[in-house]
Amino acid sequence: MKTPSILFAALAAAPTVMAHTVWSVLYVDGESQGDGAGIRMRKDPAKASFPLVDYSSDDMACNVDGTKGVNFVSPVKDGSTLTFEMRSWPDNPSKESLDRGHYGPCAVYLKKVTSAIDDKGAGDGWFKLMDDGYHADTDKWCTDRLIDNKGRLSVELPKGLEGGYYLARPEVVALHNATNGQAQFYTGCAQIFLESTGSLVPESTVAIPGPDYVSAGQSSVKFNIYVGKNAEYQVPGPAVANFTQNVNLASDAQLQQTEGLVPSSCIAQSANWCGKEVASYSDETGCWASGEDCWTQGKKCWAEAPATGGSVCQLWSDKCTAINDQCKAKNFNGPPNKGKVLTPKRETIDIGLIIKPVGGGNIESGSAAPKSSAAAPKSSAPPAFTSAPALAPSAYEPKSDMTETPNPSSTHASFIETPSFSSTVSLLTFEGGAYGDAPSSAPPAFTSAPALAPSAYEPKSDAISTPALSSTQASFIETPSFSSTVPLLSFVGGGYGDASPSTSTKKVAKPTTKVPASEYAAAPKPTAAAEAVDENGMVVVTKTNVVVVTETQYVTLTAGGYRHKRHRRY
Ligand SMILES: *[C@@H]1O[C@H](CO)[C@@H](O)[C@H](O)[C@H]1NC(C)=O
Ligand SMILES: *[C@@H]1O[C@H](CO)[C@@H](O)[C@H](O)[C@H]1NC(C)=O
Repeated sequence: MKTPSILFAALAAAPTVMAHTVWSVLYVDGESQGDGAGIRMRKDPAKASFPLVDYSSDDMACNVDGTKGVNFVSPVKDGSTLTFEMRSWPDNPSKESLDRGHYGPCAVYLKKVTSAIDDKGAGDGWFKLMDDGYHADTDKWCTDRLIDNKGRLSVELPKGLEGGYYLARPEVVALHNATNGQAQFYTGCAQIFLESTGSLVPESTVAIPGPDYVSAGQSSVKFNIYVGKNAEYQVPGPAVANFTQNVNLASDAQLQQTEGLVPSSCIAQSANWCGKEVASYSDETGCWASGEDCWTQGKKCWAEAPATGGSVCQLWSDKCTAINDQCKAKNFNGPPNKGKVLTPKRETIDIGLIIKPVGGGNIESGSAAPKSSAAAPKSSAPPAFTSAPALAPSAYEPKSDMTETPNPSSTHASFIETPSFSSTVSLLTFEGGAYGDAPSSAPPAFTSAPALAPSAYEPKSDAISTPALSSTQASFIETPSFSSTVPLLSFVGGGYGDASPSTSTKKVAKPTTKVPASEYAAAPKPTAAAEAVDENGMVVVTKTNVVVVTETQYVTLTAGGYRHKRHRRY
């Protein structure tokens, strides 16, 4: 089925800002380890969401500031599911995880280390547990799938993996500007201790940074996602790892976590900070001294609070205020609420999507038996991933309707035949991001809007002309049962700082697609495709690769043919 590309226009980008994303929290088997806890992320909250674009930098391993460990290490069981959550606003999980304008693959890597806190991350030892790129059948990138899954990227650890400390590294790569060789990497490292008596080790590892991982100019980071060739896209990095038994396990087995445990004396945990109860007191001097200790601890809490915020620090400050209030009231017996735990209860989530490893994850069966008695017998280490399906090449064939720009008059018939949509109002709404409300703790990353080459933004002729009615179009024009003012298609956007678009469209055919105007610069060819006609004979546009967000466009369909209105909003 061909999908006429109608109604497109492209235009200049508005100066804009854009929020990117931060790997903010690790869930182990669905249980939160606490926002920011055990995670190496860029320290400056204002810059934590910035992408990495220098592939030779050590920052590629665990992000800026990532060569230094944080205080805590999350315990993980053999075969656990790790879930990494990305957030555009790390201190506000109710907001979006990643702007829809980011398209690209994802992956999870692990590195076995002697110390999860001391290892600098950068260097050899990394192996890939899973990756995911583009799905031609659904026209979705991994980023789309993750955004649909609340920004959560999950991976099951292969059962029987050698126990000990690891750095676990989620990765998302945004390709919207990769035409220029500037793919944006978003990463971070979770420090974990794997409680396992298994002995599986990866057969091979790569260095991050390094050319076996990724280097500038490689097709995985220099790729145009706007020309209909996404099915050919190869994800960055090595293949998904395969595993073998470590015959030397006895000599380096780490069976007990000794570092990075949250002390039981911690009554308040904020990311990697821990607040301890102040000394009990029974006189005025003691009261003020404990108050001061409280504030001293709290100051550190605020100073160390990562992008995920200081909500626990605030609870701590309230505690300190309460102590001081007692001193002022000459109630010198305290502290009040002694020992009360201020750490929020750990949230448990429904993990949702788990992307299985493809093209790897095999466990070599005939390898030497582990020497250590501590090592798990093979039977306890089932080859979890041996059945990973090979990709059928056919699944990756580009769909003709994604690559072509059919001319409307000759192709309408094909979609008219397959009405599959029941919306009676508007069909598709693209919204520009409204980032006017970014919190001060995490200001949006983008400051400069690329200049647009006017030629790149010429509206396509089929977008601006009023096509004559062909005989095939007549079939749906015969049954218009809607008002001529119902918008057929609208692009809304450019309203950075202005969340309410000025169109009347309400209902969408598919989840809205957002493309920040700033990033539209990278999009040479706006394409969208009408795929079906609803029962009212309206063209339903459900697929887009690139969307113009700085224009509002209405199209009205009348018995007389197409008409459209375009409103530019800069
Ligand atoms: C796209 O990449 C070029 C460098 O290749 C850079 O100058 C430009 O700022 C990037 N644009 C965006 C929107 O990231
Ligand atoms: C794992 O094995 C598969 C074959 O089953 C292979 O294609 C892949 O390259 C291997 N992974 C690595 C990292 O060598």
